[in-house]
Amino acid sequence: MHPYAYGSTVEAEGTEPLAYFERRLASMEVLLGSIGDQPMGIVRLSIPTFVTERHKCMLTGMYVRAAARGTGLASGLVDAVVERARGRVILIELSVVTTNERARRLYERHGFEIYGIDPCALKHGDLYFDEYQMTRFLERPPGWTAPKPPSAAWR
Ligand SMILES: CC(C)(COP(=O)(O)OP(=O)(O)OC[C@H]1O[C@@H](n2cnc3c(N)ncnc32)[C@H](O)[C@@H]1OP(=O)(O)O)[C@@H](O)C(=O)NCCC(=O)NCCS
Repeated sequence: MHPYAYGSTVEAEGTEPLAYFERRLASMEVLLGSIGDQPMGIVRLSIPTFVTERHKCMLTGMYVRAAARGTGLASGLVDAVVERARGRVILIELSVVTTNERARRLYERHGFEIYGIDPCALKHGDLYFDEYQMTRFLERPPGWTAPKPPSAAWR
């Protein structure tokens, strides 16, 4: 229903056997949001394995079923990622397609800030999609300040 919101595609994953998804679920931190006993939303938290990147994590695969939108479940999922990440990493990163205003506003409400734009980040068929890169610091490294973009002359 939202092909342009994700990096993966139904075509790429739709033919995979159940065991493929079982393996993926076992190797990732996937959080499920339920209303009553109904699974209504999902989000993934992943921490890179490479030694120089293990201080940050990525929030990906965010999805809330249409019937549960506007209920606070999406916020609950973002909060859950933040709580699981706290103390393990210093920041959370995510990417969101620039036209996905609803998702961007959710993330901004939770303190994520846009730090860059990835031009033509995704290509679905003949269509290109730009993405905002967003980050939320959980703790600021002592003495660290955000770098300024290079001047036009530098380029
Ligand atoms: C993105 C998603 C998880 C957000 O969940 P949600 O329950 O809709 O989130 P919220 O109810 O908190 O709404 C988020 C913001 O969108 C606004 N909004 C509601 N309907 C909207 C619409 N039709 N268009 C634009 N913004 C809208 C809300 O007012 C809110 O903004 P605010 O915080 O400034 O008030 C959910 O819509 C979804 O699963 N969408 C499809 C998949 C997707 O886009 N995933 C994200 C991939 S990065």
